[in-house]
Order: sequence, then structure tokens, then C-alpha cells
Amino acid sequence: MTVQVQDTQDFMKVAKGRRSVRSYEPTEISKEDVQEILETATLAPSSSNMQPWRFLVAHDKESKSKLESAVLDFNKQRVAEASVGIVLLGDLKGYEKAEKIYDQAVKAGYMTEENKTQFVKSSLNLYRSIPQDKLKEIVLVDGGLVSMQLMLAARAKGYDTLPMGGYDPVKLKELFGISDQYMPIMVIALGKAAQEGRPTTRLPIEEVTFWNTMD
Ligand SMILES: Cc1cc2nc3c(=O)[nH]c(=O)nc-3n(C[C@H](O)[C@H](O)[C@H](O)COP(=O)(O)O)c2cc1C
Repeated sequence: MTVQVQDTQDFMKVAKGRRSVRSYEPTEISKEDVQEILETATLAPSSSNMQPWRFLVAHDKESKSKLESAVLDFNKQRVAEASVGIVLLGDLKGYEKAEKIYDQAVKAGYMTEENKTQFVKSSLNLYRSIPQDKLKEIVLVDGGLVSMQLMLAARAKGYDTLPMGGYDPVKLKELFGISDQYMPIMVIALGKAAQEGRPTTRLPIEEVTFWNTMD
């Protein structure tokens, strides 16, 4: 059954109001709020619904200071101030959860056991044969989708975020003991804004849109 959206106004407000926030109030965020934001984020689509995103949430002081030392200088104060820092990882073996994922679909009545068995078998065959570079591309795309949804979910709950590519991935992996199975995609600061994000501009839509052909 398709859920009909009655009112898109709230969504537009959230999407148009989101900005990268670089200064945060020294407030705590509850685990429940973080969990709700992550749960909403994981409604994002992913390749074969394999959901290869993993979230390493730096919530306590120690892990936050580890994260602070893994980000580049210009991001340190932002991570220090934010209530949590979320390291978004791509699980390069995420497809190994196919059986579990599609069992859930059977239990929910969305799929027959027979279809599941067939689908899981062919998906595992496919994903296990995909070269590492291509797998990285897949988790990057899925990681981008979940990140965006995370930032919008946070905004809808009254929080703000900053996506960060400015970190040292080698140091990050070392400090948190992240194995090569996981690929760091992004670090996202989350908290209550102390200062609004500065407005930014966008290219006119005509410049980034090609209608029907690339001419
Ligand atoms: C993948 C990615 C990496 C980014 N890395 C950083 C960063 O390391 N530090 C920072 O202050 N902003 C970072 N940003 C934020 C961008 O500068 C910001 O999204 C852009 O200027 C548009 O502003 P807005 O997010 O307020 O709309 C990053 C954004 C993205 C999507």
C-alpha cells in the first residue's frame, strides 16, 4: 500500500531550511533522538536494499575527542562543539546480510519464501563477484543517500548537521580500530545550532539540467 503524503509543506520547509551548521550549543542529545534520526535515515533506498551503511556514533567524551583528532584542523572545533559526531561507514561486505534482510521481508508478508531464496542466492552470487572498486562505488552512492536523509531527519527534529569530508581516513580507521571491511564515507556533526548556517547559493537549474539530450 502506498502511503499518500497529505502535506508536502513541512518537507519543503525542512529541505529548504537545512544548512551546514558550524557552531553548536553545548547540549547533550539523547540516544533515543539519535536512534530515531538514524532509523529515519535508513529508510533511504540502497542498491538491492542491502543497506551497506554503518554508523559509528561518537557520543561519549572519549570517542568524541578521538574523532576530533581524526578530522582536519578546520573541522576540529565543529566536532568538539557538536553533541555527537557520526562516522558514516560503507560495509564492503554488507550484502552478506541479504538473508537476514529478505527474511524480514518474508516475515512482513512482502515476499514469498520461495522468491526470497531465489533472490538471495542470485544477489549473493552477483555481489560476491563484483570487483572491490565497483563495490566501493555502490557503498558510496548508498552512503550519500543515507547521509542526506539523516541530515533532513535531524533538521525535522530540531537539530542541525555538518557533513565533513575533511578528515584523515587512515587516522580515523586506526583510532577507532575500523577494519578494511568498512570504508569511511563521511563524518557528520549533529547538534543544536548555536549559530545559523551561512546561506549559500546554487547554480541556476538551467545550467545543471539537460532536457532530453546533452546538446
Ligand atoms: C561530501 C561533503 C564534504 C564536506 N566537507 C566539509 C568539511 O570538511 N568541512 C566543512 O566545514 N564543510 C564541509 N562540507 C559542507 C559544504 O561546504 C556545504 O554543504 C556547502 O557549502 C553547501 O552549504 P549548505 O550545506 O549549507 O547548503 C561538506 C559537504 C559535503 C557534501
